[in-house]
Amino acid sequence: MIDIKALSKSYASRLLSDADIEDIFRLCSGNEQYYIHMPPFVSRESIEADMRALPPGMTSDYKYYIGYFNGGRLAAVLDLIDGYPEKGVAYIGFFMVDAAMQSCGVGSVIINELCKYLYERGFYSVKLAWADGNNQAERFWLKNGFSKTGAVKNDDCALIAAERRMNP
Ligand SMILES: CC(C)(COP(=O)(O)OP(=O)(O)OC[C@H]1O[C@@H](n2cnc3c(N)ncnc32)[C@H](O)[C@@H]1OP(=O)(O)O)[C@@H](O)C(=O)NCCC(=O)NCCS
Repeated sequence: MIDIKALSKSYASRLLSDADIEDIFRLCSGNEQYYIHMPPFVSRESIEADMRALPPGMTSDYKYYIGYFNGGRLAAVLDLIDGYPEKGVAYIGFFMVDAAMQSCGVGSVIINELCKYLYERGFYSVKLAWADGNNQAERFWLKNGFSKTGAVKNDDCALIAAERRMNP
């Protein structure tokens, strides 16, 4: 069980709900280049679907669709699965920072605080994937301690899988 409020000391973190869809839509709409690599472009319906989407074999008990707030404004969205693809591993399905707040360290702070929290609770790895060709994502994850583990193909595009192993 992940304590969402304890994930960050820098931002107020809580689970997002349908009541937040408008704010999530605003944040996502500002990141047009992400959807060039990962189409289709965001819609309110796709956000609603993403909030409920689960990887194979997982139930909603293990899914956390999290918002990080800065002075009451949604600054970032994180989709996190506890125990996927196996116990001790957390999977980031989606991570996006408000375009107006990017390149100021917001994303790095959130991910490093997340990894610290997970490591202290016995997780040994965080996994994720980005769309091949999304250089912004690639540089961000490599800068934040992730290493490429291989190429994967999903229905719409080629993905690069990566992992951050948690060491003391
Ligand atoms: C990737 C993302 C989460 C980074 O958030 P952020 O708050 O800007 O990140 P930080 O300020 O902590 O780090 C900035 C780093 O991101 C990378 N980066 C940011 N913008 C970039 C760009 N236009 N081109 C290449 N790298 C870029 C760089 O590594 C940069 O560090 P550097 O300037 O020292 O090289 C944010 O840009 C975003 O939400 N992008 C759209 C969604 C996305 O691609 N998410 C990842 C999906 S897998």
